[in-house]
Amino acid sequence: MNTFRENLLAGKNAFIAGGTSGINLGIAKKFAEYGAKVAVVGRNPEKAAHAAQEIGHDAMGLSADVRDYDAIRCAMENVASAFGSLDIVISGAAGNFLAPVNGMSANAFRTVIDIDLNGTFNVFRGCHDLLNKPGASLIAISAGQAVNASALQAHACAAKAGINQLIRVLALEWGPEVRVNGISPGPIADTEGMKRLAPDPAARDAHYARIAMKRWGLIDEVADSALFLCSPAASYITGTILDCDGGSQIGDASRIDLSRGMA
Ligand code: HXC
Repeated sequence: MNTFRENLLAGKNAFIAGGTSGINLGIAKKFAEYGAKVAVVGRNPEKAAHAAQEIGHDAMGLSADVRDYDAIRCAMENVASAFGSLDIVISGAAGNFLAPVNGMSANAFRTVIDIDLNGTFNVFRGCHDLLNKPGASLIAISAGQAVNASALQAHACAAKAGINQLIRVLALEWGPEVRVNGISPGPIADTEGMKRLAPDPAARDAHYARIAMKRWGLIDEVADSALFLCSPAASYITGTILDCDGGSQIGDASRIDLSRGMA
């Protein structure tokens, strides 16, 4: 390991909600690799302990549901007292399932709003007085569905749109001491989300053609985006939502026929 890697986040303490699996676990591993002290939080205590072990570097694993403000605040206080303070907070816990609005109870809609949007409010609201300021960096995990409507995901679309605005408002209210940004991952391989949203391999292969980069992204590529946003290289970036999606949101790449312009 070279010195740059070891030092980039040295002395930084990170709290990662939803960090026990998927993209957020990838971010936790990346941050630990680059020198941060890391705590991951998820609903399931065994999963949290296992994730901490997988991350290594003396990572902490705690259980709390982001829907429960008191529980998430208590987890943050425990981490801040163990680490000293918090420099980086990631809000990444998410829930999703495919259902038309007519097949969704009020509780079903509320459940996803509670996990994604209210959970992000709870994580960010709960951490502010524990942050090492100035210089703290917060990231929420959003999605392209915040901007582009997607049938069967009214709950997730509404929640992610709310998250984008929450990011912008907090960047205004908490600047210049705290930077608040989002990452909007496109389709990312080996995630619970894509297992749920694209379970069929044939549909998945057809989907590649529509993406400018002609493939799904890697968890490690999203983790690199998080590393950038939390690093000094992003010191003038706040209130932005960084698309890490291979160009998924810019248009349908399968409809392009360049030969029509070659005559
Ligand atoms: C219709 C459904 C449903 C379905 C659940 N519900 N699944 N309704 N179709 N397929 C309803 C239930 O019937 C219930 O309503 C309500 O939702 C709450 O369900 P519970 O199972 O009681 O909730 P809970 O145990 O808290 O589980 C939350 C969950 C679940 C979101 C429903 O799927 C979950 O835990 N997911 C976590 C993991 C996950 O989804 N990860 C993927 C994130 S992907 P009633 O009325 O019966 O009480 C992602 C990518 C983003 O975020 C990209 C898109 C924006």
